[in-house]
Amino acid sequence: MIQIESLYKSFDGNEVFRGISLEIPKGLILALIGRSGCGKSVLLKHVAGLIKPERGRVVVEGKEMGTARGRALRALRGRLGFLFQGGALFDSMNLFENVSFPLREKTRLSHQLIQARVLRELENVGLSGSEYKYPSQISGGMVKRAALARALVGDPEIMLFDEPTTGLDPVTGQSIIELIDSCHQRLHFTGIIVTHEISRVSPIVDRIAMLHEGVIWAEGTPSEFFASQDPVVRGFLGDAAKDMS
Ligand SMILES: Nc1ncnc2c1ncn2[C@@H]1O[C@H](COP(=O)(O)OP(=O)(O)OP(=O)(O)O)[C@@H](O)[C@H]1O
Ligand SMILES: [Mg+2]
Repeated sequence: MIQIESLYKSFDGNEVFRGISLEIPKGLILALIGRSGCGKSVLLKHVAGLIKPERGRVVVEGKEMGTARGRALRALRGRLGFLFQGGALFDSMNLFENVSFPLREKTRLSHQLIQARVLRELENVGLSGSEYKYPSQISGGMVKRAALARALVGDPEIMLFDEPTTGLDPVTGQSIIELIDSCHQRLHFTGIIVTHEISRVSPIVDRIAMLHEGVIWAEGTPSEFFASQDPVVRGFLGDAAKDMS
């Protein structure tokens, strides 16, 4: 499970977090929403141990991310998959090389085993036959799916998705959400999905949290959230709340 306790963070005097507390029980998925620039990506990077807390703690599966070092930090990162905002494949590597990268970096699996896992993961996301294509040769939706395969290839216990559907047409976006859902049912990871498309994502999540003014402003199940009378929540959800109620 993921626990965030009284997290503070500033960048050059810009106070992004003013005491974030949030808990995600094992095996559940939380959607994280909030205005552009409110700190959603920065929060995921704290969970992944890529940014250290200024004050407060981030505890993942009982281990504190801010203080883990060396082998312990690598072991924790090995249990975690991250779909970065924008997909971010390595342009100089083909899809096979991209998806096998985490296994080559983080494990000592044999070449045969890595090959079998990578082909399985590419098949899961519907990219069989494109193993030797380069990112520049495939569509944006295929890049997202390949990035998803790369994030999932190590069978992670924790999955962080930063805007997995942004920039995709509605049909392709929906297929990515269904893919995340089916992977969740297979792997039972604990997950966070950062999204600007809450009405689309809410059917596959257990809880929603809204980041606002440096704190978790509201948190609850999707139905609690869409029924919220809080003016900030209602103002942010806008038409999404009307669609859902
Ligand atoms: N490495 C960094 N150094 C300095 N400032 C940073 C750094 N990373 C993020 N910030 C600042 O922290 C704030 C939060 O950024 P973040 O990327 O988390 O926003 P976000 O909620 O993910 O926005 P979006 O929805 O547009 O992706 C912004 O003001 C950003 O400029
Ligand atoms: Mg972001």
